[in-house]
Amino acid sequence: MLAQKLAVVTGAARGIGFAVARDLAAAGCMVLMVGRSAETIEDAARQLRESGHDVLVHVADVTDASAVAALAARLRREFGRADILVNNAGVFLEARDFAVPQAASVFVVDPEVVAATYACNALAPLCLIQAVVPLMRENGAGRIVNVTSSMGQLSKMGGFWPGYRMSKAALNALTRLTARELEDSAIKVNAVCPGWCRTAMGGPDATRSADEGARGIVWAALLPDDGPSGGLFRDGQPIDW
Ligand SMILES: NC(=O)c1ccc[n+]([C@@H]2O[C@H](COP(=O)([O-])OP(=O)(O)OC[C@H]3O[C@@H](n4cnc5c(N)ncnc54)[C@H](OP(=O)(O)O)[C@@H]3O)[C@@H](O)[C@H]2O)c1
Repeated sequence: MLAQKLAVVTGAARGIGFAVARDLAAAGCMVLMVGRSAETIEDAARQLRESGHDVLVHVADVTDASAVAALAARLRREFGRADILVNNAGVFLEARDFAVPQAASVFVVDPEVVAATYACNALAPLCLIQAVVPLMRENGAGRIVNVTSSMGQLSKMGGFWPGYRMSKAALNALTRLTARELEDSAIKVNAVCPGWCRTAMGGPDATRSADEGARGIVWAALLPDDGPSGGLFRDGQPIDW
């Protein structure tokens, strides 16, 4: 791909997104770390700069269409490119007591919670794709990684947590749709499940570190020109939708 790629990573202030930003910077990308709190995203960027990484910050709530439009305008004005987009920002807003899943049943879930989850996990990635693809087309290449979850796999769909599950299933559908519409281009679009990771979202009992979860995302972000598009992967291996 390109010499110094510009990588946009959402939700980069902590958790998996922070690890992805760090690893993409270590791979030689200039990383634009996107976060919704100026203080926390600046703190995260400072940590990476202190380790010698080339990172910039952008403050945006990805569910705010005008903030995403401002990000798109900055990308065009300041860099004239966007080579990699990692749609990592995500929320899990339902009650998450795995011992009492009934608290997050289809039959009791607040539709407002489902809508808010969708806004961040599915609609924001759509808006961000709309923001970067024109630049990727102009530059003739691009990589888009949608960070999804096994909880969105239709082939393994269990009960409970409908907001999160439906939002990630929708993100998977968006991945397929986008890849199909871009199949004649050099822009690759894939969904990656990081596995169950020890972050604020995954909790302390998760089986993987955020660093381990980030690896498969970075792999998809740095795919060579003959790499796959339109797939769902974990650890660089295809898994069922
Ligand atoms: N952890 C897991 O086990 C696991 C498993 C499968 C998939 N995933 C997916 O991996 C991704 C990262 O998860 P994580 O575990 O690292 O979660 P996390 O620690 O909770 O971090 C989520 C990040 O997303 C940001 N974010 C949330 N809403 C946002 C918004 N509206 N605008 C901008 N940024 C926003 C958060 O920013 P603030 O700091 O401002 O809140 C935070 O930086 C998510 O898409 C998640 O669904 C995680």
